[in-house]
Amino acid sequence: MSTTLLELVRMDEPSEPAGRKPPELARRRRGAGARAGRARRMSGPARRTTPAGGHLPVLAEELVSLLDPQPGQVAIDCTFGDGGHARMVAERLGPSGTLIAIDRDPVAEGRFAALAAETACSVRFIRAGYAEALAGLADEGVTADLAYFDLGMSSMQVDTRERGFSYAYDAPLDMRMDPTQELTARAIVAEWDERRLAGTLRELGEERHAGAIARAIVRARGEAPIETTQQLVDAISAGIPAPARFAGGHPAKRSFQALRIAVNDELGQLDEALPRAWGLLREQGVLAAISFHSLEDRRVKRFLAGQAQGCVCPPDLPVCVCGREPHAALLSRRAIAPSPEELAANPRAGSAHLRAARKLVVEEEEGA
Ligand SMILES: C[S@@+](CC[C@H](N)C(=O)[O-])C[C@H]1O[C@@H](n2cnc3c(N)ncnc32)[C@H](O)[C@@H]1O
Repeated sequence: MSTTLLELVRMDEPSEPAGRKPPELARRRRGAGARAGRARRMSGPARRTTPAGGHLPVLAEELVSLLDPQPGQVAIDCTFGDGGHARMVAERLGPSGTLIAIDRDPVAEGRFAALAAETACSVRFIRAGYAEALAGLADEGVTADLAYFDLGMSSMQVDTRERGFSYAYDAPLDMRMDPTQELTARAIVAEWDERRLAGTLRELGEERHAGAIARAIVRARGEAPIETTQQLVDAISAGIPAPARFAGGHPAKRSFQALRIAVNDELGQLDEALPRAWGLLREQGVLAAISFHSLEDRRVKRFLAGQAQGCVCPPDLPVCVCGREPHAALLSRRAIAPSPEELAANPRAGSAHLRAARKLVVEEEEGA
């Protein structure tokens, strides 16, 4: 028999799904006093909060408007970060609602504690990759009204120089969102052969000079280990022809993006997570995703379009014989981009694209 989340949040310990490593869990239910106090803040327009040294949520008003959280609903924030989006959603869920937050970064788990202390709804944090966390929730029989992703890095990650995400600071080469994970950028740069490096830079960074950069990295590491972001920037720059070096922004930008995506298996996680998040949604539930580069956006677009597709009969058939009805309604025809005002206030929103769809049909096996 499946269990609802509201039942689960009242239990002290979750039952662990057989055969799958359970995500690290933290659960909490707020007291009635806190609920009453917070309930007063539920109505009114969604508010954007920007804690000092934190992450400015991107496309926040647009995301909340598409999700349209209602009191009592269950929402899953798959990329909690600094909780900017989650805070706005939680306010609307109210004391009878539930927010499940996922992030694989322990820093996000720390930020979650602050949100848990101030929100009225039931809350739960899962520290794990979202693909694994969503699979764990499915095993528990959890269902949700809303699920959303805000992909990529948080400002806390990129601005913490020792985490080695940024080409702007000299730091140890790392780039792990989950610092307990084994694979680091340093290991990739030290161990992957030239062909694999070039393929990664080409596919994940859309880097035109991928072959030459990979060659330059292999040459540089033959002379001395590449252990810092600055050493990597130097090796990358050496691989780019001089005229192209400063033509399209920082010469290491695309290579750093590629390495970060590879270190954190960002595309593999997304490919697994989209159908899992969709599978958790109830009828009329909404899935939304904000992506920051075309590799992510293409995946989100294809996935949602696939759910929204109706008849799949060959076009030359005079009548439909497949009988397929759309499983989703897209909530905007095109991806939603930040307004000029948001871009002026937050240049990091630059490449953001938001897409969302409403679930129309719950498949038998999904709801079982
Ligand atoms: C852009 S930030 C989210 C910011 C958040 N929406 C806010 O308003 O503060 C992305 C977050 O997702 C997390 N993340 C990225 N990929 C993840 C994955 N596969 N599993 C779990 N968390 C992930 C990162 O650690 C980061 O904290």
